[in-house]
Amino acid sequence: MTQSIEELKQQTESLLQEAISQIAAAEDSQMLNTIRVNFTGKKSELNNISKMMGKLDKDQKPELGKAISGFHANFNQHLDDKISQLKAEELNKKLAGEVLDVTLPGKTPKVGTKHILTQTREEIETFFLGLGYQVVDGPEVEVDLYNFEKMNLPKNHPARDMQDTFYIDQELLLRTHTSPVQARTMEKHDFSKGPLKMISPGKVFRRDDDDATHSHQFQQVEGLVVDKSIKLSDLKGTLLAFSKAMFGEETEIRLRPSYFPFTEPSVEVDVTCFKCHGEGCPMCKHTGWIEILGAGMVHPDVLEMSGIDPTEYSGFAFGLGIERVAMLRYNIDDIRHFYQNDLRFLSQFKGGQN
Ligand code: DAH
Repeated sequence: MTQSIEELKQQTESLLQEAISQIAAAEDSQMLNTIRVNFTGKKSELNNISKMMGKLDKDQKPELGKAISGFHANFNQHLDDKISQLKAEELNKKLAGEVLDVTLPGKTPKVGTKHILTQTREEIETFFLGLGYQVVDGPEVEVDLYNFEKMNLPKNHPARDMQDTFYIDQELLLRTHTSPVQARTMEKHDFSKGPLKMISPGKVFRRDDDDATHSHQFQQVEGLVVDKSIKLSDLKGTLLAFSKAMFGEETEIRLRPSYFPFTEPSVEVDVTCFKCHGEGCPMCKHTGWIEILGAGMVHPDVLEMSGIDPTEYSGFAFGLGIERVAMLRYNIDDIRHFYQNDLRFLSQFKGGQN
């Protein structure tokens, strides 16, 4: 059945209206693509209409041609508009999802603290720097010569037993105390520039049974002053001032005779118990005193072995454990807490940072 040109034009127009309403209802580009194929593809009704062209009169052909190209122009226009609209909507949706709320509270980074042993060491250094001492470093892997021989502990000296350590070879070992830095510094010191006043903080190592108060690795501060006419009273005055700075103004000290191979005379230094102030309590084992360090007048042989004339010069020396000072000050009951990296322990010491 042949259709009239009027019918064909009518059909094209209603196809366009149908297409326009479908385009308007489309929700995404995939749906638009289907609509394009349905209305303009090979199997579309519009294609069927085009095929009728051949059956039309000559003067009717351009009329149908105009209607069909009108369809295409309109159809494409609506399609393009819809594509732009969908793109704009998509962008808005995306932007809405990415809104940045600048009023949200930020994430506060955790700020660490210096380790309590570092804080304590720095406090000790600050005190002695204030008295004009220099802070000297020394090697942790030390030679026998400095660790023992020059500290007046010759081979086979019985006092070596108390400081057994890890030997790398016959001559090389992990230092057992910071005292060898004494010898290293004395050898280089130029007395024409003034007296020698030094402290040497650092790690030391010993064979020890690890328990609440002993560790195979700990930290010491060695102190040394050498000049003409240095006396035991200079040592006492220095350690009294130090003890007051560390444990409180009311602190007193006492010296007890002791033995170290590198000092003569040697003393053990106690401070008055800062808990009971000398009354006697469990902290000081009811004596009123707490032992904090070893000290003495530098043995003349130690001076001589480092090239200093003991008939002209004298000196005092002392050595203390940094862990012990911190344990006493902060009432820490086990030395192993320092090394276990437990934040519940470490974060309790936030003071004293600089
Ligand atoms: N070096 C000793 C030790 O580790 C500590 C010490 C005691 C150092 C007395 C000294 C001192 O300078 O005079 O046990």
